[in-house]
Amino acid sequence: MVGRFVKNFLRPFRKFSSNFVSIVNENSIVRKAAWILAAEKVEGDYLEFGVYDGGSIIQAQHEMEEAFREQMTEGGGRTREAANEIREIWSKMRFFAFDSFQGLPEIEGIDAKGSDFEEGTWSYNEEGFRRNLSKSGFPMSSLVTVPGWFEETCNEQTKLEHNMKKAAVVHIDCDLYSSTKTVLTFIESLLVDGTVIIFDDWYNFKGNPNLGEQRAFAEWSEDMTDWAFVQYQKEGPWRNSFIASFQGN
Ligand SMILES: C[S@@+](CC[C@H](N)C(=O)[O-])C[C@H]1O[C@@H](n2cnc3c(N)ncnc32)[C@H](O)[C@@H]1O
Repeated sequence: MVGRFVKNFLRPFRKFSSNFVSIVNENSIVRKAAWILAAEKVEGDYLEFGVYDGGSIIQAQHEMEEAFREQMTEGGGRTREAANEIREIWSKMRFFAFDSFQGLPEIEGIDAKGSDFEEGTWSYNEEGFRRNLSKSGFPMSSLVTVPGWFEETCNEQTKLEHNMKKAAVVHIDCDLYSSTKTVLTFIESLLVDGTVIIFDDWYNFKGNPNLGEQRAFAEWSEDMTDWAFVQYQKEGPWRNSFIASFQGN
């Protein structure tokens, strides 16, 4: 309860920083991840699961663009070919927004063991979400919204419909164990060597490893035997992230 209160209290400040882009978090996971992705020339889309009113995806797009742009010019050990390759990777990157646009689903099963969340919290309609992005200057042609419950949208049909092949960043901000498990299963075939997976709510439920995103990740990663998930950055009170490193043949 206290965690949720503090998170709600801080959210407008995060939103402020995304809408008024002069206030920038130099230490954000997304910014650092974007730097690595550009330098290592990791191709793929940005996928966010749980977008609410758009605050975090606006901020992420802005931070990624800055990090990529800094590496699109020759110099500092970069050849012109490398700079052009980075420019090309950035120009192809799409921003996927997955959300029910009806808030959290019914809280059941393992999620009902915690008391941090309630059904319907974080409800925000798709039209308002798109309007917020547009007003912020978000490049709308690179946006793909996938409205609906993850349990219904995270499937092969969605991958085919949008020609989804690779994820450079997976940003999971859907609070619940069940939602996170669905998302992780969905992204398996989209992982590339270097994908950065960000968990927005890693330390929810007072950090209990048997609940929420931590539990979903522990169960899922155990079965992903061709991959090592390397601990990457932490940010603020709740966030954690991993780099997916391919270990197979
Ligand atoms: C905490 S909010 C996201 C906040 C947003 N990333 C930000 O920082 O601006 C969580 C979001 O997850 C979505 N969500 C959670 N579980 C879901 C599910 N199973 N299917 C679809 N949406 C879900 C909710 O609708 C809600 O918008």
